[in-house]
Amino acid sequence: QRILEPELMEEAAQVKAYAEADFSEPHGHFIELLKAAIDDPAFSGFALDLGCGPGDVTVRFARAFPGCTVHAVDGSLAMLEQAGRLLPKALEQRIVYVQGRLPDLDLPRQGYDIIFSNSLLHHLPDPSALWKTLLKYAGPGARIALMDLLRPHSKQQAQALLNTYAGNEPEIKRVFGLVIDFDTRLPIDEVAA
Ligand SMILES: C[S@@+](CC[C@H](N)C(=O)[O-])C[C@H]1O[C@@H](n2cnc3c(N)ncnc32)[C@H](O)[C@@H]1O
Repeated sequence: QRILEPELMEEAAQVKAYAEADFSEPHGHFIELLKAAIDDPAFSGFALDLGCGPGDVTVRFARAFPGCTVHAVDGSLAMLEQAGRLLPKALEQRIVYVQGRLPDLDLPRQGYDIIFSNSLLHHLPDPSALWKTLLKYAGPGARIALMDLLRPHSKQQAQALLNTYAGNEPEIKRVFGLVIDFDTRLPIDEVAA
């Protein structure tokens, strides 16, 4: 049984708080893992970022792989407007933001060389939307990289994490950590399976 967050992040205060949050550690780590997996600094081609939000991972990817053009998709216009404001001038030619809601996407091309997504899956009421999109848009031999959240083991553990990492944050950011129902959590081996 899954516990979902609201699907699209459209509320202005939520978009602003998310865009201002410091995700440098997990997002930087995601890119490092990708670099190690791809193992080719000259890797080039078309990349697709699903559920790109304000574009922090998008921009990090484009910087790490200067031979790639990135199409970055989100269903929330408010998120994409924020991403546009944060887009560095030097990357304007290589990052294209597209509004679209999985699974009903109409993207500028097919056959992407790499598709990545961070923290989208737990928003999707029907997770098959993600897998259908991968099947539709991945080119032959495409790389796929997905990252999402891991549920804490107990409410106490969640509260401790919240206090450690968001103790002084405004309420709207602390709320990210509280949208959790502990009674229906899955053991990690079941998630992996
Ligand atoms: C938690 S944010 C992650 C943003 C970004 N990937 C990051 O790591 O910072 C999830 C994003 O997915 C978007 N989203 C949720 N459901 C979607 C759908 N069905 N199609 C497209 N975007 C969706 C939300 O609007 C939100 O911007």
